[in-house]
Formats: sequence, structure tokens, C-alpha cells
Amino acid sequence: MWDPSRPRRECRGAGAGGRGAGGRAARGHDGAGQWAARGHDGGARMSALVAHGTLAGLAEIAGVGRDPRRGGYSRHLWQGPDLELRAWFVERAERLGLVVETDRNGNLWAWWGTPGPDAVVTGSHLDSVPGGGAYDGPLGVVSALEAVGRLRASGVTPSRPCAVLVFAEEEGSRFGIACLGSRLLTGGIDADRARALTDADGVTLAEAAATAGLDPQRLGADRDALARIGLFIELHVEQGRGLIDLGRPVAVASSILAHGRWRLTVSGQGNHAGATPMGDRRDPLVAAARAILAVQDTAAARTGARATVGRLEVVPGGTNVIASSVHAWLDARAGSDADTRDLVAAITAAVDEAVRLNGCSATLTEESWTGTVAFDPALAGRLGAALGGVPTLPTGAGHDAGVLAAHVPSAMLFVRNPTGISHSPEEFAEVEDCVAGIEALETLLRSLL
Ligand code: GLV
Ligand code: MN
Ligand code: MN
Repeated sequence: MWDPSRPRRECRGAGAGGRGAGGRAARGHDGAGQWAARGHDGGARMSALVAHGTLAGLAEIAGVGRDPRRGGYSRHLWQGPDLELRAWFVERAERLGLVVETDRNGNLWAWWGTPGPDAVVTGSHLDSVPGGGAYDGPLGVVSALEAVGRLRASGVTPSRPCAVLVFAEEEGSRFGIACLGSRLLTGGIDADRARALTDADGVTLAEAAATAGLDPQRLGADRDALARIGLFIELHVEQGRGLIDLGRPVAVASSILAHGRWRLTVSGQGNHAGATPMGDRRDPLVAAARAILAVQDTAAARTGARATVGRLEVVPGGTNVIASSVHAWLDARAGSDADTRDLVAAITAAVDEAVRLNGCSATLTEESWTGTVAFDPALAGRLGAALGGVPTLPTGAGHDAGVLAAHVPSAMLFVRNPTGISHSPEEFAEVEDCVAGIEALETLLRSLL
């Protein structure tokens, strides 16, 4: 059970980029270094969060899952910090008088009123990328709890059920598939395939689910849970510069780029680093380096395309060993489904050619795919009007709201991020903008309930 008095939850310099236990700020690898330089030291930011009772939730979890090696936070599905955040959520929600349940896929629902149908559901996720920021996910969860708490405290009696929803494994950091909780819920991933997914230690999703107290056989499409959602709203920190450029604190989302993940395996000949002349090598790591440049060049030549290799695994990975193979993961995104497919086809051809220069071969295997999401313009317009006319913005980042959008009316609210940086400890949101986001969400929920 979450215990606020536990020393581990110390909040010294916490908040995104605050100086955490890892002391990364001192080495300038943490957002705190940057903000301290501007006079926004972690302590001041923490005080601001605490002083604003509305954001106390962010302050409470600021010490959970700090990653001293990478900087920022590493909060991965059903591992220590994620379990701690889940316990924190349950306690927070119950303190508000909500009734919490865990669904078949590990998503948490905190209900105000009898569960569904036609419920107004809002929330986000608590897991992070490796070394991520404090706001991607948690801001939406904390804001949802705060907005619901305010409505309850002001005596609102909802005419329909309402729930705060925390999705499992949104980032796919442990099992590789982004938005896993919402994909499972909606049937967007085959349950057998999902059960067999493995983490870096070879633990399957089925095994991890069982350890977390779920029945692995019940993972998968949950039509009853889905049928309860009348409408879903996800508040999220903006992951770009749209709101900075507009000079506005809050926007409604219009669309999400098509995106997917592919595993790129480059195979060569493992050999001895000292005994193998340079001309006799088939080194897959050198070939992978060429392949990554080919990925970069292919995407850079196309308007609106984005392609990234952010993760590599060298096999076997020894200083005096020419590798035998390299696994790399490609994240590719573009303005339409066709453009994204075309981008990946061009990357495949460029990578094949690049690795051949080192006598190696490559295979590219799709691990996940999400088509372009166009949020319902009528709903976005309605929400924008209810907020007195806020801008609409597209995004290149994936979200559970995007997965749900194919099944239920869904919308997103973005809160300005003054760094314009995300999936990094430098991700940030000013207290005033977070409060503006909560007020916007409260207004929307009030109008919908
Ligand atoms: C999730 O944050 C994604 O866009 O990959
Ligand atoms: Mn993210
Ligand atoms: Mn997110």
C-alpha cells in the first residue's frame, strides 16, 4: 500500500527535471540543470507544485521511479515504480470516494457512480519511456483526479457514470508494443500474440500478468469494459512546440500521425577482433551504422516524415568481439498511412543496400502499427467551444486516446510544454498551465455530466 510517510517518497527537488536521488542535475543531464540555470531550481518548482494543492498529486509521485543511470524516470509495467504508482492511484482515487477496479488487461478504472454504460471517461497512463519526463502520462492522471475531485466537492450530481482510467504500458517500454493496455482492451492486438511478448529478461506478458495477479487467459478484447465508455478525454502535456508558438496554454488535438515500430536485424559474421583483418570482416555493427544513416537520410528527404532508431542490441556485445548480429528498432511516422508505408518501403530498400556494403544482410519485421488518427472534428469543435475557443493542434505522438478513437468518441487536451521537449527529463509544464489544463478538463466534464 502506498504510504506517504515512507522516506523513499522524498520529494526533494522533485517534479520533472527536479534534482532527484540520482543527483543527475549536478551533472547537467537532468532538466533540473537547465531550469536551475534559469533560476527554476528543483526546490522552487517543487514548492510551486505543493503550494498549488491542485498539483499535489504530481509532487507526491515525483520521487517514484527516478532513474539515476539515465536521468529522469523509468517506470515500467508491473515493475517496482509502476506498482508503487498504481498503489498511489488507488489510494488517491479512494480518498476522493471513487471505487477502483482493475480490468482483465491491467488497466485501472476509478468510478464515480455505477460503472457504465455511456460513461464519461478521462485519464492517461503512469508508465514512462526509459529515462522519461514527469509529465507524459501522469499529468493526465493527476489532472483527471483533480477535475473529478473538484466536481465532487462542488456538489455536482452526475447524470451519467464517470471514470478516471489509467492505461497499462502506454509507452511499450517493457513489452515493446505501445498502447498495449488500450490495444488489448479494444482487441487491437491478438491475445495469444500479446501473451507471448517478452521483456528484456525473457519474462512473457502472460507470466508478468500472472505475477501481477491477473489471469493471463483473460487478457485480450474486453467488450464489456469498452461498452461502458461513452466518451474518452485524455489530457496530455504537449510533446512539441505548437502551444509555445501560439502563445496559448491549452489546445484540443486534431490528429495523430500514422506510426509504427519495426525490428531491424542485421546479420554478419561474428569473429575475433584481433585476428580478423579489416578486409575480411562482415561486421553487422558497422553495417547497422550505415543502415541508421540510411534511415535518417530517407526520412529527411520526405516532407513530414520521421524515422528514428533509438534502441540497439549488439549480439554478443564484447569489446574484443566482432558482433554476429545487431537488433535495432525503427520508429517511423508520416502524414498518412500510405506515406508511412511508403517511407518504410523506402527505408527497407535503403537499408538493404547499405548493409550489403559490409557483406551483411538485414530483415525488417513489423511489431506494431497505428494508422492516422483524425479525432472527431465535431467533438473537438464542441470541446473547443465549451472552453471559449481554444486552438486545435496535430501531434506526432501516439496516445491511448488515438487507439480508442476507432471505437468511441475520443478527444485530447494538450497543455503547453515550454521546453518543447518530451521523452526526456527536460519535458516540463508550468504550474499555471497545468492549472489551466485542469480547469479546462473540469469545464468539459461539467458540461458532459
Ligand atoms: C508514445 O509516446 C509514442 O508516441 O511513441
Ligand atoms: Mn510518451
Ligand atoms: Mn503519453
